[in-house]
Amino acid sequence: MEFDPSKYSTTSFDSMGPALQLVKMIQKQNVDINQPLRIVDLGCGPGNSSKLLADAFPKSTIIGLDVVYEMIEHAKKNCPNDRCKFFVQDLSKPFDEWQQEIKEILYTKSADIIFSNYALQWIFDPFILGDSIKKILTPKTGMFFANILYSDILSVVDKNDQHECAMLERYLRYPNEQQFISDWIFGLKNRSQLHDIWIHYWQPRSVYPEKYYRESYVKIPLKWHEHFIVNDVSADIHARMSEILKNLILKKRVKRIIPRNMNGKHDECDCNVNGNNHVKNGDNDDGEVNDIEIEQQVWTIVARSSNDSCMGESCIYKNLF
Ligand SMILES: C[S@@+](CC[C@H](N)C(=O)[O-])C[C@H]1O[C@@H](n2cnc3c(N)ncnc32)[C@H](O)[C@@H]1O
Repeated sequence: MEFDPSKYSTTSFDSMGPALQLVKMIQKQNVDINQPLRIVDLGCGPGNSSKLLADAFPKSTIIGLDVVYEMIEHAKKNCPNDRCKFFVQDLSKPFDEWQQEIKEILYTKSADIIFSNYALQWIFDPFILGDSIKKILTPKTGMFFANILYSDILSVVDKNDQHECAMLERYLRYPNEQQFISDWIFGLKNRSQLHDIWIHYWQPRSVYPEKYYRESYVKIPLKWHEHFIVNDVSADIHARMSEILKNLILKKRVKRIIPRNMNGKHDECDCNVNGNNHVKNGDNDDGEVNDIEIEQQVWTIVARSSNDSCMGESCIYKNLF
């Protein structure tokens, strides 16, 4: 995967609003923030989400795991806190094959909270990670909080465009959302043995400089979609498919264009609805004239390891919002 951690850490406006929502959900549980909690941040990237966790839970230890070495190096600089520890680890591997050092730190059932923001969609076998979660999450009080993205671009395919339809049908093995999300739920229920699984679908929005999003940032969702192009297609077909996928992603995600005025600011600046994150005026503008509001498709999943029946105050999802 080609994330540039130094850029991602300052331009991932789309992920930080939802990460904060997840942190707030944890705070609303009966969590004693003065306890030395162990929180594992799966797919921690450049450490932005880990930093939110370390600030929100001042006695906690955050263990951030990510498959990309550069991300982990960036996370270490981003969170120089002694309470944050970062390791390179491919989470799609079975737990027994994880680095020995991580296995020793995450000795059996030692994590109080497993957290993951905008990362699990990159793990294509939820059952393998489901088994790992079972091995590291503490029984009784363990909790799981994740935002998982699904990008349903097929709903915006122009059915009159026969060329586009034929290409997609022939070369794209795209997961359907029902299967994709239910695999996660069943992975967490049957493999991680989590209980009281609560699931919520929402569409957070964020604002980006238009040129930057269209030309650069879109490569991240594009990479996810390209994963489903069938193997062994020629470079030429791959390039044409990528162009189609990129256009569909933009068609699906871009909700409105927000022109900037002469001062590089928005005339109307009310982009801050429903936990939106937005670009600060003047940041990242590079002479750009427009910003765009983009919309994501997010499944939030919350669960706990105890199988005590969910009643009254013990109900994990009672106070989520
Ligand atoms: C969109 S970023 C999210 C980063 C961070 N959680 C945040 O909220 O900003 C997704 C992260 O998942 C990581 N990732 C993808 N596949 C992975 C895998 N198999 N194992 C571990 N991390 C993975 C990527 O390297 C990337 O840093």
